[in-house]
Amino acid sequence: MFEKLLHDAGSAFQKYFGREPKWTVTAPGRVNIIGEHTDYNDGFVFPMAIERNVVILAAPALPEDKVPAGCAKIISTAKRNPAIVKLSGNIKPGPRVDWFEYVQGVIAGYLAETPSVQAESFVAVIHANVPLGAALSSSAALEVAVATLIETITGADVDPVRKALICQKAEHEFAKMPCGIMDQFISAMGAKDHIMLLDCRDYSTKLVPFTTPDLSILIINSRVKHQLSGSEYPERRAACHDSAKILGVASLRDLSMDQLVAGKDQLTDVQFRRCRHVVGEIQRTTDAVKAIEAGDYELMGRLMYESHESLRDDFEVSCRELDILVEAARKVGIEGGVYGSRMTGGGFGGCTVSLIQTAKTDSIIETIRADYKAATGIDADLFVTRPAAGARQL
Ligand code: GLA
Repeated sequence: MFEKLLHDAGSAFQKYFGREPKWTVTAPGRVNIIGEHTDYNDGFVFPMAIERNVVILAAPALPEDKVPAGCAKIISTAKRNPAIVKLSGNIKPGPRVDWFEYVQGVIAGYLAETPSVQAESFVAVIHANVPLGAALSSSAALEVAVATLIETITGADVDPVRKALICQKAEHEFAKMPCGIMDQFISAMGAKDHIMLLDCRDYSTKLVPFTTPDLSILIINSRVKHQLSGSEYPERRAACHDSAKILGVASLRDLSMDQLVAGKDQLTDVQFRRCRHVVGEIQRTTDAVKAIEAGDYELMGRLMYESHESLRDDFEVSCRELDILVEAARKVGIEGGVYGSRMTGGGFGGCTVSLIQTAKTDSIIETIRADYKAATGIDADLFVTRPAAGARQL
């Protein structure tokens, strides 16, 4: 699949620019196994990079490319018009969030934080097979791929944590989405055959091996598009931060369930439930790591279902279609090969993630596809993936 992506990207580059690229980089999308809406609360997350990527092919601009001085011309195979982005000067976010703002935002970040970075004018083609708006971090994959390209072109040696932070800043300022650090971090630093436990307070990580061929990660795209730059995500974030302030802690990471219950009267019902999700989810995430390490997949599965229920009832970021997919997985059950299932990512659509027995993959896919179609009329997109490598130059 990756070879095809690269091949198609190469053909597109040839078609648009009539020559071979000089630089090729890639960055993956991600799926979060557990630890949802915990990253901006200084908590833990447990994501992995997936076998779906953004690739960028680029070459120095030639006169016939007609690229304005100090700029780059970028073509996305998914969009109609090429974009001209600035490589120097004072770069400000545009009035609307267009796809090239992600590219421009990352370049602006590299110029601001690493002033010695001076990229020559270039042309590039972006090609991807990370589904858009499906909660698999297509935007973080694009940002991290652009960051990798800038580092490749300029030779800048940027620490991967700093790289992830530059990309996050681009998302905040240019895409106007106040995301946490999880997506950019795992796209930059994912490792093949490993799920990453990330402590979002100090950015320390632990790579947990996931190599057994008996188990697979099943991703099901509900095909309900999630739109996170709406008000819901910032509202959830604000509710968490306001509650932490009221309860006198720096972040919800510092709150135990007992302390939360003791402080219940100081919070509104909504604030209390938001906090109950976050405090419970941080605990579930560390429990899940232990479960995976101990090979206790039944426990892991239970934690995934609990996470989903908490996101559905307390954090209120699920939707009918995601709930139907999780229930369809639960109906298949361990006998049918499913240990656990939950919505993944920001919510309000997008994908579920399930831990399944590899040997039963085909029957699981068939059953859930049919149940979902019967309940919603929608053809879900189902695929398995193994933990994949993070961003790199090829
Ligand atoms: C989005 C954000 C992440 C994280 C998740 C929820 O994917 O980009 O930072 O907050 O939602 O866990």
